[in-house]
Amino acid sequence: MRTAVLSIVDELRRLKKTGVESVYVSEGTIQALRSFVDSPSDAAKKEAETAIASIPEKIRSAKGVEFDSLLKDQSKAAPFSQAESKDSGLPSPPQFVLPEGSKRERWEALREIVLGCPTCNEHVRSGYKIVFGVGNIDADILFCGEAPGADEEEQGEPFVGKAGQLLNKMIQAMGLQREQVYIGNIMNWRPELPSRIGNRPPTSEEMAFCLPYLKAQVEVVQPKLIVALGATAAKGLLGSNAFRSLREVKGQWQDFAGTPVLPTYHPSYLLRNNTNRDKRAAWEDFLKVMERAEIPISDRQRNFFL
Ligand code: URA
Repeated sequence: MRTAVLSIVDELRRLKKTGVESVYVSEGTIQALRSFVDSPSDAAKKEAETAIASIPEKIRSAKGVEFDSLLKDQSKAAPFSQAESKDSGLPSPPQFVLPEGSKRERWEALREIVLGCPTCNEHVRSGYKIVFGVGNIDADILFCGEAPGADEEEQGEPFVGKAGQLLNKMIQAMGLQREQVYIGNIMNWRPELPSRIGNRPPTSEEMAFCLPYLKAQVEVVQPKLIVALGATAAKGLLGSNAFRSLREVKGQWQDFAGTPVLPTYHPSYLLRNNTNRDKRAAWEDFLKVMERAEIPISDRQRNFFL
């Protein structure tokens, strides 16, 4: 048990470093950690307390596949991002054909398809909305996030909460307005949890289901490039086995169906890690984006956060 707890602490630290902001932790795992806290040994108690404190603030009590398997078999510490619901009950990804017509007509048709998608509707909580992409359908830059959060499912628009406000500031720092770019998510509904509090990252199956909708948006908009915001968005676009840690691909051009993709930090990560070092690291990616999109860069912009 002691090694299991230490493995959990290590894994949580690793995940936090890669920008993961929420994890599934089952009731069973939490109970196991709590019972460890109640154990008679002081050292063991301290370790378990550290483990519980290490769980990122938005703790979930859902399907704790990964952490349960850690407790059951300490040798199988597979990366959490590979954990996925085996019984999601999702049908195979949707297939559809967009009508002929202007860009606007094709985009409107796609929006109708997504808003009418029976699977998306089944997973949206009553009174909340499916979230489809917004912005300029002639944009050169398409920002791609992972999934809607509470604010987004209320308003039916991507990136309208705190992370969205930071994204808007970053777009403005590039000399652009939100309305000049296109903003979408890999997923169109807010990943479900037992209550409305907190968020969880989408599973690979959920992302695979929604991906054709994002791909179709990319096909209609035809941006010069995509910015993948965070590890989950990057995995959604590049494949769940494309990398283990965001560090491996951050700031390096990748490809999604023929469109260049630059993975960078998610704005939520920057809200949590509000240092000039992290902001500069993200800003350097934005400078690469500006160069590729042929947006003029001033000396002042080059030196932000230095
Ligand atoms: N985070 C995302 O990845 N997408 C949103 O729309 C909002 C927050």
